[in-house]
Amino acid sequence: MKLSNQFIKMKNEKEKIVMLTAYDYPSAKLAEGTGVDMILVGDSLGMVVLGYDSTIPVTVEDMIHHTKAVKRGAQNTFVVTDMPFMSYHLSIEDTLKNAARIIQDGQADAVKLEGGGHVITMISALTSAGVPVVAHLGLTPQSVGVLGGYKVQGKDADAARKLIEDAKACEKAGALAVVLECVPHQVAEMVTKALSIPTIGIGAGKKTDGQVLVYHDVINYGVDRVAKFVKVYGNANEMIFKALSQYVSEVRSSSFPEDKHTFTMQEEEVASLYG
Ligand code: KIV
Ligand code: NA
Repeated sequence: MKLSNQFIKMKNEKEKIVMLTAYDYPSAKLAEGTGVDMILVGDSLGMVVLGYDSTIPVTVEDMIHHTKAVKRGAQNTFVVTDMPFMSYHLSIEDTLKNAARIIQDGQADAVKLEGGGHVITMISALTSAGVPVVAHLGLTPQSVGVLGGYKVQGKDADAARKLIEDAKACEKAGALAVVLECVPHQVAEMVTKALSIPTIGIGAGKKTDGQVLVYHDVINYGVDRVAKFVKVYGNANEMIFKALSQYVSEVRSSSFPEDKHTFTMQEEEVASLYG
């Protein structure tokens, strides 16, 4: 079992926390291999892995299924799993039951919940029950319908003040860290200074205690376009397309398989087959 105290220590020692999403065994294995501090099984899997056009259709079942695969690939990394749309709003009891499944069946080390306000009650209930929680404020994609699109949040002073208050309330409710998505860097810096728990930014500037990005965005894998806050470090699409295309053309031209890919029977056995 992985413990979360290390992240407060990293904040205090000004050591950046690196978080990356992963959704399956190979991505988790590679992420762990690079030494990331935390893996997020994000409900972004709905878009980048399952092909939905938002995170809304993702289920608790989907999250458990992917978390199990991630845990098999990254046994020594702290794994946070998103609680999906409407799995932590109906009641405290329903929230606790869903989180318990993600932690017990999925083996996640913590769960992540989007939003302030009423959600803070759920964060309290979870941490009281012993479930480690990461909060997520700013642009909260599960509320895209209410927010009216994927837009920068906390841009005016009132919205910024509200965000800072929500972040403090998340800390008070026992959250171990707060993800800040798509907020002005000044606001992210204020939140970071106001909290004793770490902030993990995505589109929140460089002053947060850590950063998180989506795996598929980092390597340009299966995505057509990325948000302004993403830096693309590789080109998996190009590499994979090239390899697959070569396979297709070599089968068609009979240049694959070659002798070295082929099994051979002893000649006398072949003869007796014909005999
Ligand atoms: O689902 C996800 O990948 C996330 C990160 C973008 C923070 O919530
Ligand atoms: Na998410």
